[in-house]
Amino acid sequence: PADSHEVLNTFRSNLKKKFECLYEGTSTQENLTFLNEIYTELYITESESGEISNEHEVRQIETQSRRAATEDTPIKCSDIFGALPGQDKPIRTVLTKGVAGIGNKTVSVKKFILDWAEGKENQDVQLIFPLPFREINLMKDKTLSLSDLLQVFFPETKEIDIFSDEYEVMFIFDGLDECRLSLDFQSDVRLCDVSESASVDVLLTNLIVGNLLPSALIWITSRPAAADLVPSECVHRVTEVRGFNDPQKEEYFRKRSSDQSLADRIISHLKSSRSLFIMCHIPVFCWISAAVLEMMLSRAESGEIPKTLTQMYTHFLTAQINIKDTKYNEKKDTDEEMVFKMGKLAYEQLEKGNLIFYEEDLRECGIDVTEASVYSGLCTQIFREELGLYQGKVFCFVHLTVQEHLAALYVHLSCINQNINAFDLILAKKNLQVSDLYKRTVDDEYNSKFSKYSMSIYSFSELHQRAVNEALHSKNGHLDLFLRFLLGLSVESNQALLRDLKIQKETCFYNKEETVKYINTIIRKSPSPEKSINLFHCLNELGDHSLMEEIQHYLKSGKVKEIELSLSQRSALVFVLLTSEQEMDMFCLSKYTGSHMTPDEVLQTLLPVIKASRSAQLDDRNLTEISFTHLASVLSSNCSCLRDLDLSGNYLGNYGVELFCAGLKNPHCKLEKLELMCCGVTDKGCAVLASALRSNPLHLRELNLEWNKLQKGIKLLTDLQKNPYYKLETLRFNDMYVTAEGCAALASALRSNPSHLNLCECNLGESGMKLLSTVLENPHCKVKTLELRNCGITAESCTALASALRSNPSHLRELDLTWNHLGDTGVTLLCAGLENPHCKLQILKLGHCAIAAEGCAALASALRSNPEHLRELNLTWNHLGDTGVTLLSAGLENPHCKLDILRLSYCGVTDEGCAALASALRSNPEHLRELDLSGNKLGVHLISHLKNDPRYKIGLQL
Ligand SMILES: *[C@@H]1O[C@H](CO)[C@@H](O)[C@H](O)[C@H]1NC(C)=O
Ligand SMILES: *[C@@H]1O[C@H](CO)[C@@H](O)[C@H](O)[C@H]1NC(C)=O
Ligand SMILES: *[C@@H]1O[C@H](CO)[C@@H](O)[C@H](O)[C@H]1NC(C)=O
Ligand SMILES: *[C@@H]1O[C@H](CO)[C@@H](O)[C@H](O)[C@H]1NC(C)=O
Repeated sequence: PADSHEVLNTFRSNLKKKFECLYEGTSTQENLTFLNEIYTELYITESESGEISNEHEVRQIETQSRRAATEDTPIKCSDIFGALPGQDKPIRTVLTKGVAGIGNKTVSVKKFILDWAEGKENQDVQLIFPLPFREINLMKDKTLSLSDLLQVFFPETKEIDIFSDEYEVMFIFDGLDECRLSLDFQSDVRLCDVSESASVDVLLTNLIVGNLLPSALIWITSRPAAADLVPSECVHRVTEVRGFNDPQKEEYFRKRSSDQSLADRIISHLKSSRSLFIMCHIPVFCWISAAVLEMMLSRAESGEIPKTLTQMYTHFLTAQINIKDTKYNEKKDTDEEMVFKMGKLAYEQLEKGNLIFYEEDLRECGIDVTEASVYSGLCTQIFREELGLYQGKVFCFVHLTVQEHLAALYVHLSCINQNINAFDLILAKKNLQVSDLYKRTVDDEYNSKFSKYSMSIYSFSELHQRAVNEALHSKNGHLDLFLRFLLGLSVESNQALLRDLKIQKETCFYNKEETVKYINTIIRKSPSPEKSINLFHCLNELGDHSLMEEIQHYLKSGKVKEIELSLSQRSALVFVLLTSEQEMDMFCLSKYTGSHMTPDEVLQTLLPVIKASRSAQLDDRNLTEISFTHLASVLSSNCSCLRDLDLSGNYLGNYGVELFCAGLKNPHCKLEKLELMCCGVTDKGCAVLASALRSNPLHLRELNLEWNKLQKGIKLLTDLQKNPYYKLETLRFNDMYVTAEGCAALASALRSNPSHLNLCECNLGESGMKLLSTVLENPHCKVKTLELRNCGITAESCTALASALRSNPSHLRELDLTWNHLGDTGVTLLCAGLENPHCKLQILKLGHCAIAAEGCAALASALRSNPEHLRELNLTWNHLGDTGVTLLSAGLENPHCKLDILRLSYCGVTDEGCAALASALRSNPEHLRELDLSGNKLGVHLISHLKNDPRYKIGLQL
């Protein structure tokens, strides 16, 4: 028997060799890019299993790159099988989704394997079997056992018993979306024996379900659209790879280039074009732009530095063809023929939704498979040939966007060079009937124009109109980027590049205005926001910025509220805001509401922007029911970034709350903070809110219901707060109509342990205060901030409060008693509680509390007994007078007194009191940094003296 240790080592080093190079498209030996040199941690996060969207990746990029910047805890690639803090369930199967086609997930898989093979991570695993679906596809008709399958892919393990209990084994199935086997998870064929033969799809389903090798770890990666092929009960964790966020984009360019000033120039160029910088979310796009920009910026070349997507990809193609021309002399096809054939392949496969092709697909496009190396030589880095481990060859473009660019190039060249309309060619291939052709168009005008089914060419701009309609027709947006490229290629500078390459024979003159006009017509008809956003990108590619510039001008000059915006201007506003350089952290409706549209209309227009913002301020806008319904739909959306929403001052009433809660209760809703101050909510609305939170309890942390007429309803919410399952931490109520019930609710609010309690303006009265104090004195009560402004608290109530502070002194940090009639008696009683050295109160607000000299004596004495904690004391608007201030100063002069803010404005202080303060500060100069003496009658001389004293420089207000 072989030495198992040696076999394992060989296995490891084979994997290391296979995975240490990030392919980055380079297939030639001399230009290997080592993965470890440029690997930038991708953003992987836990996601909810249900959260699967069928949209085309490219469409999700904009939201994704925003989310990457804001979202929760990232998981390091090597930790994806590790339990998160607080979770201890074992994780057997992880499903990782990732947008943007080939690239991100595969890179993460490579990095994971490399770290393992180099002995850095996950060393409790002894064997990792990477089995990309694109390679397994080649075995789809075979019948064999799992054991045989592994020996085919990993012959070196033949010598040892890989299934023995000694080894922890992991399988990595990369690219579920590329799977061409029919995985039937409902099938009853149960397979438990690794030596039993079955079809490959049965082997895989049994392995994934856990019938075969139940203790093996399984990692599956997939594009979102295919992720639900695996039933969710077989998956223990779903993660998402999100591509680069903004700092990671920059890190990539810095790591890649040894010349930092070049890297800086590349970054600043990309940042200057918003649409390019957004695309850098895709790592492969970063690689493409780095290749192009390094070349163009380092040569002192006069050529135009690419500013649009089409320019970038066309320059990239040029670079690849130039590399090839220097490398291969003898070639069968001309560049033109080769690009054309590959474009055809790209386009036909794009139409079918395929990203991975096999030999037969190539043959169909007239690409000679035996000459594949020369073809891959033509565009080494565009078209990549993956040698399967087993047999046969798998092909793909380096990235979906490269495929989309070549597909557009094919349609463009077919029209110019060959006078062929590629769209109709495809239709003819599919044997579609003429009547089907009608259905594919969305525009009536267009329908009548093209009612004759014809292969002959219309004008160039008619081809464009056709493409626009094809893209609009696509449900998942699979032609969006293709359309951008197709329109971009018609721009003269791009045509010139193609002519230089001799790919395009002649110039095609055409009237760009017609295309622009057509796009504007479509925008005016306001298709879905996603579609019109793509159409604006198209206008950008065509170099038509007029609408966007107009809107930018209105935004800059602040006139946007005053103008009556047309429908297309409204869409342009959405586009400009969504792609604006400033982070859309905060959306503020009041910036856009003027006299031309009602706030409801403005809200409806800007919904996509609200959806992409983290925080939305919609307060005091007189919004009505229609808006609450719209907001509910934003909250229910799979990809809303909204976390913080302020609807205060809009009259929702209970019905509005109900409409709104349809969104709040949706599990997709991740709102964390909701402000509903003064919204006409009563107990009934409270019940609806509570019920919504019961359905979706994991996100909302803060709810503000101040200035609503709530009584019993409060209890419903505070009950939720008690339950540790709910995330609700802060509840704000006030203006309670205090009755016996209100007090009961209050007591319950406190028992549920909020850390912040605001009861301002509640007429608590003595009975309310007593109740409050009984709860406060319970050591389990952990209220840190207690706001009791203007609650009708009198001296008597202070006894209860002081007693609470004595019994449970260690939690309260901030106490606000402003605007209560405490008087000296009240303050003296309160100070009996503060004197306790265990009392850790730091901020005490006693403005407008009718305190005079006697109260000051009590405060000073409290400061002497317990000097360590109090930091801020606000005594504004009390009748302290000089006597009072002098008494207080006696407390301050204690060097242990750490007070750093003292507010004595409007306290009737004159020079005499001031002198006492100055003397106290001489004894204890270390702490006080802010002293507010404004509104007092101080002598001019004293003021200038104080002003010149360096000790007061920081915060003296006079
Ligand atoms: C590949 O390497 C050669 C020399 O090692 C260099 O001249 C060439 O520019 C490199 N190509 C790319 C695409 O980096
Ligand atoms: C809301 O309505 C009130 C009363 O009609 C009006 O005074 C106020 O200006 C309105 N506010 C907004 C933002 O439209
Ligand atoms: C969210 O995802 C689910 C599951 O795929 C889907 O059924 C639903 O329609 C999506 N909702 C939205 C608003 O996209
Ligand atoms: C101090 O209290 C007064 C009210 O008595 C208030 O107006 C002022 O804002 C307070 N100062 C600070 C800084 O909290």
